[in-house]
Amino acid sequence: MFKPVSISDHIYYVGVNDRTKHLFEALWPLPSGVSYNSYLIDDEKVVLIDTVDICYSDIFFKKIDRILSGRSIDYLIINHMEPDHSGSLRLLKKLYPGIQIIGNKKTFEMVKGFYDVDGPFHEVKDGDELSSGKHTLRFYMTPMVHWPETMMTYEISTETLFSGDAFGSFGALNGAVMDKDFNADPYWDEMYRYYADIVGKYGSPVQKALQKLSAVPVKTICSTHGPVWQEHIPQVISVYDKLSRYEGEPGVVIAYGSMYGNTEQTAEVIASELSACGVRDIVMHNVSKTHLSYIIKDIFKYNGILVGSPTYSNELFPGIQSLLDKIETRDIKNRYFGCFGSFAWAGAAVKRMSLFAKHVGWEMVGIPVEQKFTLTPDKYDECVALAQAMAKKIL
Ligand code: FEO
Repeated sequence: MFKPVSISDHIYYVGVNDRTKHLFEALWPLPSGVSYNSYLIDDEKVVLIDTVDICYSDIFFKKIDRILSGRSIDYLIINHMEPDHSGSLRLLKKLYPGIQIIGNKKTFEMVKGFYDVDGPFHEVKDGDELSSGKHTLRFYMTPMVHWPETMMTYEISTETLFSGDAFGSFGALNGAVMDKDFNADPYWDEMYRYYADIVGKYGSPVQKALQKLSAVPVKTICSTHGPVWQEHIPQVISVYDKLSRYEGEPGVVIAYGSMYGNTEQTAEVIASELSACGVRDIVMHNVSKTHLSYIIKDIFKYNGILVGSPTYSNELFPGIQSLLDKIETRDIKNRYFGCFGSFAWAGAAVKRMSLFAKHVGWEMVGIPVEQKFTLTPDKYDECVALAQAMAKKIL
């Protein structure tokens, strides 16, 4: 059972797919599932790199045993301690009591704290190496990509980078695990979304990690989620570079809340005029219908953001407030911002959104549109002007 999945010379994929969980981190939708990737090096010393979510430990251990046929595991390298990868740690230790745990100083506190598991521990620092026989593993510290203990492990002879969450994506693996063996197109959007939702706050540490690894030759990227990358490595690195520099493509995200359709009507007018001005990439999201996960993804992707909100109890519409909070948390930089809204007796939304733009350092574009009750001809003209101003900025 469980035919071994070879990545390269004695390096095997022993990860699992999760098509059951609805929300990753109890927050982010998983319509196409997610994979928890783990890797085994079957050498003179046997090395396991990360584990999997505890819900899938049974199949995980069966896959390992199919390759090892009763041999033991000498080393567990922990690149990342978030429980979707460390969840099987306590069971692993019970099955392989002599296993040595390799990580950095911050790793071991988490091992003890999450699982009350003792060593033996072997602490590594940036640039340290470990031989398993034919393979040599070098460790790169990449803190805050996206936890404090995150590091990467590089296998020198095969030029394989075990990158932790970096370069990962949502989406379970449907049969094959290496990008050369399937059409990887569906994973790009899910890579954007994974980055935006999970890693997005940590652009600067990601940039530092990319710089640290820039001179390292890499033939294979083994992330902890999604495809194993070989064919698309330049594109994978380019996506991460662009996202971590908060560089948006020319395009506009219109995100709005609307209780009775008045703010929505304004959004439609603005979108129509943007299109008339030649903007090809316009994405519209009703925050009451589209999960914020997807809206944040698009805000990472495009450089123009237009947000519409009714005034609700003298505040922003709750879904919009939640969206703005998530943008602020991620410290997304360099966006052009415009806003619009509606009210029935006292307007507050547009003022609050303008303050938000100032607070996060986004450039305000055009004049905000705020209508009382419903869209009138003069407000229609203001919407057109706002759209034209945005189109001029981003194109
Ligand atoms: Fe996939 Fe940060 O855990």
